[in-house]
Amino acid sequence: MKKVPIFVKWPIWDEEDIELVSEVIKSGNWWCGAPNAHEGENVWKFQTEFAQFHQVKHAFACTNGTHAIEICLMALGIGRGDEVIVSDWTFVASASAIVSVGAVPIFCDVNSDTFLIEPTKIEDLITPRTKAIVCVHLGGMPCDMEALLKIAKTHDLKIIEDCAHAHGSSLQNKMVGTWGDCGTFSFQASKVINAGEGGAIICNDDELALKIYQVLDSGRLPGRWFYDHFAYGSDFRLGEMNAALLRTQLKKYPAQFRLRNKNAQYLNIKLKEIPGISPQKRKKAVTGCANYVYPVFFDPDHFGGIDYQVIYKELEERGIPTDACYPPLHKLDLFENMNLLPNIDYSQANWGKDNPHPQNFPVVEKLHRNAFQLDHRVLLSNQEALDYIIEQIKIIQKKFSKDDKE
Ligand SMILES: Cc1ncc(COP(=O)(O)O)c(C=O)c1O
Repeated sequence: MKKVPIFVKWPIWDEEDIELVSEVIKSGNWWCGAPNAHEGENVWKFQTEFAQFHQVKHAFACTNGTHAIEICLMALGIGRGDEVIVSDWTFVASASAIVSVGAVPIFCDVNSDTFLIEPTKIEDLITPRTKAIVCVHLGGMPCDMEALLKIAKTHDLKIIEDCAHAHGSSLQNKMVGTWGDCGTFSFQASKVINAGEGGAIICNDDELALKIYQVLDSGRLPGRWFYDHFAYGSDFRLGEMNAALLRTQLKKYPAQFRLRNKNAQYLNIKLKEIPGISPQKRKKAVTGCANYVYPVFFDPDHFGGIDYQVIYKELEERGIPTDACYPPLHKLDLFENMNLLPNIDYSQANWGKDNPHPQNFPVVEKLHRNAFQLDHRVLLSNQEALDYIIEQIKIIQKKFSKDDKE
């Protein structure tokens, strides 16, 4: 077999990261403090820098991307008995956050080209209980926000954009997270901006921003006494060391983002030449994609009928960095067997053992059997690495189509 090229290691860090984190340690201020008592500085500075990066009025750092969605739901007043529509093909957090606030997630099938929530399938899922849509920019690819905003306006729904994969992605040069009511981010270790753990929320609305702040900082109000609590909230604050690392990582991010975009576009062109290979579609309106993962559908008719388990094994044996695709949410034991919160009525949901769920999600079912994802490190690697992947996929195809004929 051909020599495996070197793929970039993740995370990427340098002396600047070490220096700023060390400064925090030496300062003794490891906690962000309150708005009128900044013990630490990095959380506050990071919030400003992250807001500038996303060209948005407000940014809040928080504990992680799961909590970021929970905070937004709470700030938007969504809770017990409400329904929230979410893509069926995402990480569990996009839906478990909805469960956490006592609401019921309703899963929506995805588009077969973009692998993102399919707007034309949303309206059938709307009931008088529907309050919001959580749209997930899977792989950093922006959802069809114009279509989603139209639906939201018609039915008076809120939109939370789950941007856990989509730092800096944009549609028509407008950043994701600024199309809907608010956007949420994750800085967990695998993400394109990484602090081990961490999250953020962005929004442009002053009133909503204040509510978000209250939920994440124990119901406090900026500028008021520390032990005054004005609304129900919890502690979702980020620590200074994580924020310091986020500041130095954010500085490195634009160059990485540009490289990932360039390499993803190269792969798009080359992989589409292979019969039966369809990378996640990047529509013309997409002006930037974070490319957290690079998802690809492979048509089993062109690959001797193999499924994702076989292709993952083949790719891994060839040293190609991959990321497992998410199992459909409706197939997770959590939802299938309704192992959820007590005293909440889930009987109207479009999933669970009593519902004929596979029929509700034909595209996700198809993707589950026949998709794979390349890790974002691939897109930070050099031309030799990209060409190696293209060549190996052709070899895998040959191997199985040949086996098929014998
Ligand atoms: C789409 C999506 N949403 C939310 C999250 C949750 O982020 P975190 O792990 O920071 O809680 C993740 C994390 O992988 C994710 O992939």
